Amino acid sequence: MTKLYGVIGDPIAQSLSPMIHRGWMREHDIDAEYLAMQIPAGELEDGLDTLARRGASGLNVTMPHKHDALALAGSVTPRAKTIGAANTLWRPRDGTWHADNTDAPGFLATLAGLISAPLRGQRVAVLGAGGAARAIVYALHSEGASILLANRTLARAQNLIAEYGDQGQAQGHQAVTLETGLIALKEADFVVNTTSLGFQNGLLDLPAGDDKLFYDISYGKAAKVILTQAKAAGWRIADGLPMLVYQAAFSFERWFDILPETGLALERAQAVIDAANG
Ligand code: ATR
Repeated sequence: MTKLYGVIGDPIAQSLSPMIHRGWMREHDIDAEYLAMQIPAGELEDGLDTLARRGASGLNVTMPHKHDALALAGSVTPRAKTIGAANTLWRPRDGTWHADNTDAPGFLATLAGLISAPLRGQRVAVLGAGGAARAIVYALHSEGASILLANRTLARAQNLIAEYGDQGQAQGHQAVTLETGLIALKEADFVVNTTSLGFQNGLLDLPAGDDKLFYDISYGKAAKVILTQAKAAGWRIADGLPMLVYQAAFSFERWFDILPETGLALERAQAVIDAANG
């Protein structure tokens, strides 16, 4: 029987996940369909019940459901629990939804190609302390980096760092305002932007980059303005499209025990983004 997989969120029409996963399903001769399904905020519980009745085996979860998906899952991986969000669900024989977060390993997999030294001991500035920052902070923390978390609302950054307790202190994590963090970028080994500023065409007051990495986890139009600005200031730039592909690859591995090849999927995704942005 053809198995059902898909991505759930709202909005969902622009999601690249169907293209990415269908490509891998074809490559690996997997008899399954992968759909983009719109589920409005507040309707996740009903949506998951309906999908379970329809025999859905695995789901990707995106905005606005990443937090609620975790709460509704019968079983949660430790990393999804710490991050406080799920982007991957699957339903093993027990019939309940299990939840994981593959954004963190997806991010780390892309970093491997962008920095030469191991993360342990590196000083990494993370801009933004919202939902998207949580997986990045978790990933960097778990690899032993020292995090400078800079956010417009200081308390939000402080609360997130506090979650890492004594271990975070031992690794030298610090929470500062966005303004202070931008000045301190000079002392960081590299920078990860997780703010949603790019969606508002906002800019950052960036110091000179001296060829250090400025990694924006958004992609396409949302990343364009800030990355153009960062490049002009001398930063070596990277966007979040590879991370999108890698988090998908780790979801696929969860479902099918196959870690798919990301090269072609990234090329296809890039082509769609380029076509959409002229
Ligand atoms: P996401 O899930 O994309 O992280 P979010 O949880 O709403 O979305 O978080 C958005 C992040 O971008 C936050 O760090 C937010 O800062 P605040 O915590 O102070 O709200 C940051 N952000 C959004 N608009 C911003 C702006 N105009 N200037 C600076 N930071 C901004």
